[in-house]
Amino acid sequence: MKFDQPAQANPIDRMQVVGRPIDRIDGPRKVSGTAPYAFERHDIAADPAYGWVIGAGIARGRIASMDISAARAAPGVLAIVTADNAGALDKGKRNTAKLLGGPQIDHYHQAIAVVVAQTFEQARAAAQLVQVRYAPGGGDFDLERQRDQAKVPKDDGMGSPGATQVGNFDAAFEQAAVKVDANYSTPDQSHSMMEPHATLAMWKGDQLTVWTSNQMIDWGAEDLAKTLGLRKEQVRVVSPFIGGGFGGKLFLRADVLMAALGARASGRPVKVALQRPLIPNNTTHRPATIQRVRIGAKRDGTITAIAHDSWSGDQPGGGPETAVNQTRLLYAGENRHTALHLAELHLPEGNAMRAPGEAPGMMALEIAMDELAEKLGIDPIEVRRINDTQVDPEKPSRRFSQRQLVECMRLGAERFGWQGRSPVPGIRREGRWLIGMGMAAAFRNSLTMKSAARVKLEKSGRVVVETDMTDIGTGSYTILAQTAAEMMAVGVDQVSVRLGDSSLPVSCGSGGQWGANNSTAGVYAACVALRRAVAGKLGLNAEDAVFAQGKVGNPGGTMVALTQATSDGELVGEDAIEYGDLAKTFQQSTFGAHFVEVGVDMHTAEIRVRRMLAVCAAGRILNPKTARSQVIGAMTMGVGAALMEELAVDKRYGFFVNHDLAGYEVPVHADIPHQDVIFLDETDPTSSPMKAKGVGELGICGVGAAVANAVYNATGVRVRDYPVTLDKLL
Ligand code: MOS
Repeated sequence: MKFDQPAQANPIDRMQVVGRPIDRIDGPRKVSGTAPYAFERHDIAADPAYGWVIGAGIARGRIASMDISAARAAPGVLAIVTADNAGALDKGKRNTAKLLGGPQIDHYHQAIAVVVAQTFEQARAAAQLVQVRYAPGGGDFDLERQRDQAKVPKDDGMGSPGATQVGNFDAAFEQAAVKVDANYSTPDQSHSMMEPHATLAMWKGDQLTVWTSNQMIDWGAEDLAKTLGLRKEQVRVVSPFIGGGFGGKLFLRADVLMAALGARASGRPVKVALQRPLIPNNTTHRPATIQRVRIGAKRDGTITAIAHDSWSGDQPGGGPETAVNQTRLLYAGENRHTALHLAELHLPEGNAMRAPGEAPGMMALEIAMDELAEKLGIDPIEVRRINDTQVDPEKPSRRFSQRQLVECMRLGAERFGWQGRSPVPGIRREGRWLIGMGMAAAFRNSLTMKSAARVKLEKSGRVVVETDMTDIGTGSYTILAQTAAEMMAVGVDQVSVRLGDSSLPVSCGSGGQWGANNSTAGVYAACVALRRAVAGKLGLNAEDAVFAQGKVGNPGGTMVALTQATSDGELVGEDAIEYGDLAKTFQQSTFGAHFVEVGVDMHTAEIRVRRMLAVCAAGRILNPKTARSQVIGAMTMGVGAALMEELAVDKRYGFFVNHDLAGYEVPVHADIPHQDVIFLDETDPTSSPMKAKGVGELGICGVGAAVANAVYNATGVRVRDYPVTLDKLL
């Protein structure tokens, strides 16, 4: 189904099932231990072998020698795979560095061997016996020092330019009555999902099946085949349940390759879970940024000049953290400049982590807006309202399809009690606590992606949805079931959903908050095909047959049970949603406003978040319960980014020092107060037949700055260097 005109009225608009806050249909399985992760597939392989991954002990250089003889002779060892004996390996299209290093080493903890043994303990013990001598090479590990060597790439790797220019920024900024010019920094951040990257691999002849934890099944299958020199048909990737993704599982990682190689070498099914202390350096992380924001405005608050530069680093062949992209779209202003500056660093691979680009970019931009408001003596919400725009400020002929930023801020201010905020910082006190309020706009783009599905109507009347879409804890199972139930006019308990298997139709997968809108639109398309099949079978008018309450008929005619159509066997509808130019004609983005109240202990400078509210405008909300869960999860992650999360870089040896959950701090329940989420009533007919968008990443964008602005309001100390830890307030 080609979607190239704004959506008309359609069966989803009935909102009898879609739009209801139903519980996750996979919920009972998730909480009763019957939704197994890859490492728990005892049903597939009752007696698998186990692989232990050895990570490189240097950041860059060569392996001078590796002696595996003692390890090979250790009890229970079945195989040891290294670059020496793995055979020819290619690199996945989406991998920057090789997943199996040696003799050349590209980054610290790059996998250099997998030791396969009868038991996990035997594999771990034998791995300690592998003797590796390295010839370390030099490397660049310090973003600040490499900053001057950074280059502006032609594009950002996502199809947008590396730099943009409108009008004459320098001249306009020079003449501006009120100016902000400040530098901000965000640290490297680690994925800390509950389920580590883990895989069970099994070969049958030259056919490989991996049960793994991956957000993008089709990308994974393609890159696994390419890496092993197989045809894609020889590879099956299965990932029905995932214990958190956040972008760290968008790509093929070492667990999959090491399990596949270990299984081939040992002739056994092999399980590999990347050890937690390996994950921060072995896999991908959110790269650190240094950002400079300059804003010039008239005394009345009108922005006349806005510039955002961001510096980040990555491995050779890697890409920039796209931290300036929201600044191209968020506020009006005639003279504009943005640029991404990419330095070559030899730290581990940088890549996507929840709202890549916008999340760290908003952490800088939205403090700068707070600083501008203060200099102008205008309320921060009012400054943002004055500079709102309904058109793309770089290309004024393009309108936003929907943009309710102002309404999000207005409603949020009312609900949060924003008028109780003191515009002068450091004066509200409760006992020993200094109290402050901060806010920030939220912004995240909404992307369209092709997505296919198959929907069957079984003889029993059961509707079965099949697509390789993943559920990374987001509620995909549930909203896809709701979509099929709405389209076929059956109860949601009449629908089964099968996901996460490369043998199923290729979906958009889960990433970039594109999953909900696009995957449900794919199911919508398949249901349209199934409705036609039902109508055809019963001799009804294909175009206007009415589906209601498990029945079907011509308009005004007799309604018969859907199961009459399956008297000769099940019916199948299969199709994909494909997008035309609507997403180019209209800028499709999601908007919101974050409000935060903090208390700061006036003696110790301990920071506690006391209240949080997000107001989101993100198209039709397909399930308010799962959407709310996405947003509060993202807000929690935003608090982590604001106050805690930071990979400490060893700038001499080039690795992340705090590479486990003991040293890498994330929020716990006690750090998170009551969180409120409000969704504006919105439908976007340009986004898809579902008229929906994504919310999972909107929820994090802006939170960091809202916290930092609240800390400033409480204390009068402006911290521009994340995370905002108490030492920076003293
Ligand atoms: Mo998300 S960072 O695109 O999986």
